[in-house]
Amino acid sequence: MNVEALKEQAGIEACRFVESGMAVGLGTGSTVKYTILELGRRVREEGLNIVGVPTSLATAALAEEHGIPLVALDDVDGLDVVIDGTDEFDPAFHLIKGGGAALLREKIVAQSSKRMVVVADGTKEVKTLGAFPLPIEITPFASGTTVRALTDLLGCDVTVRQIEGQDVVTDNGNLIADAHAGATLNDPVAVEQAVLLVAGVVQVGLFTNMCDVVVMASPNGVTTLVKPS
Ligand code: 5RP
Repeated sequence: MNVEALKEQAGIEACRFVESGMAVGLGTGSTVKYTILELGRRVREEGLNIVGVPTSLATAALAEEHGIPLVALDDVDGLDVVIDGTDEFDPAFHLIKGGGAALLREKIVAQSSKRMVVVADGTKEVKTLGAFPLPIEITPFASGTTVRALTDLLGCDVTVRQIEGQDVVTDNGNLIADAHAGATLNDPVAVEQAVLLVAGVVQVGLFTNMCDVVVMASPNGVTTLVKPS
């Protein structure tokens, strides 16, 4: 079974956490895309009555295209659930996110949600975070200084993300620095706090103590993993 089929299975299965009347955070990426398509289908065909808060401009466009009514986060009194993808999750359900450069809005939305459901294929499950380069959103102002500070702090290569030779610019007008730490982030809570102290850092893609449930699809089927207490 190919990875795309696994993403689709996980994305659709996670929709069982959504009921009429809910305000739902809509994540960003190629797995949660299938959640958005399925929620749109339920809105159109089954009268599912929800409002969505998108975590990126790309997700807003996709959700609108598929008929999910959208609202601003400021206009609701918190969210019932957010469904989002991840780049890695560890046994404590700490996450690395930001592969799609949407980590700032994703974290704001996740922090505003009663429950965070992550959709993933089995390749995202790791023992120790960090093999996936850690995305860090930084200001364009003095980005070189911030990258040097992060290099010193983390003791690894830190590179400004580019696509086809151009800096990636986030929906918020910032840059993404990727920290190539390797699978060494044994204490992600401490790393998250330390990175946030660097002045040019807007947000870091470590999501610690936020995820409650992982809906994971592997060739053996779809499993709903609940955060160990
Ligand atoms: C975007 C993200 C994505 O959720 C993460 O990169 C996973 O994406 P995909 O489902 O495409 O693998 O954090 O900023």
